[in-house]
Amino acid sequence: MEHRSVELNQETVEAALRGIPLGGLRVFRTVGSTNDEALSWARQGAADLSLVVADEQTAGRGRLGRRWVTPHGVSLAISLILRDLPNAPATSRLVGLGALAVIEAGSSMGLHPIIKWPNDVLLSGRKVAGVLVEATWNGDRLEAAVVGIGVNILSGSVPPQAAIYPAVSIEEAMGRSVDRLLILRQLVASFVAWRPRLSTDEFLRAWESRLAFRQEDVRVARDGQPALTGTLQGLDDDGALLLQVEGALMRLPMGELSLRRADDRIE
Ligand code: BTN
Repeated sequence: MEHRSVELNQETVEAALRGIPLGGLRVFRTVGSTNDEALSWARQGAADLSLVVADEQTAGRGRLGRRWVTPHGVSLAISLILRDLPNAPATSRLVGLGALAVIEAGSSMGLHPIIKWPNDVLLSGRKVAGVLVEATWNGDRLEAAVVGIGVNILSGSVPPQAAIYPAVSIEEAMGRSVDRLLILRQLVASFVAWRPRLSTDEFLRAWESRLAFRQEDVRVARDGQPALTGTLQGLDDDGALLLQVEGALMRLPMGELSLRRADDRIE
């Protein structure tokens, strides 16, 4: 498919985000990782809700040390800086904040994305976006957090061999070409709107209501520990997963975990 995608640059992104109260905005044609740019900007004192956007990443990264591919012109790769946060566990809610913003952007286009806890967004069982939260600390004080969000927008954004999990783009899901800048606007607007409600029960319930596999059997692979199989119940206050394993309700904090439907053959 031939794509005519509007370039992401300081001017086009500024215009697309007009009226959304950001702390600052830096747009790059190419970077290693927007999370790295945001972390170094945060260390230099970037204001709360400063945003880094890149058209292309050459060293984008995902959870668990995985690569995240962001080719030129077809994806969204953004990182939002948050300051004045309470220490963990609030930081785990930030993963939910990023995922919920993607969900709402997708819903605004008539799609029905869901969250594969902790950080994947799925459309029809395939991965369309991922969230990576990183932080800078001053001793044991959280200085700033960075919420990195990558979304497959046009069909060229899906890696040819989507290694870990089958992937899809918004364009493929919609069956027509879509506007990256419009999706960016919806995404950032939703993020900014939820930000003041991060600690509320309303936020937690909104996040939880978009979880994939609720009341279904799932298998959770854990680094260095045996996998667990149980029924996915929901989230606790800290965004930890609640899993009914035989007679016990287990609480799994975010960490080196990955989740599959119990009967899923994907590894
Ligand atoms: C995952 O699915 O494991 C998370 C993927 C997060 C990718 C985004 S793209 C913008 C930001 N910069 C990065 O290097 N990673 C995140």
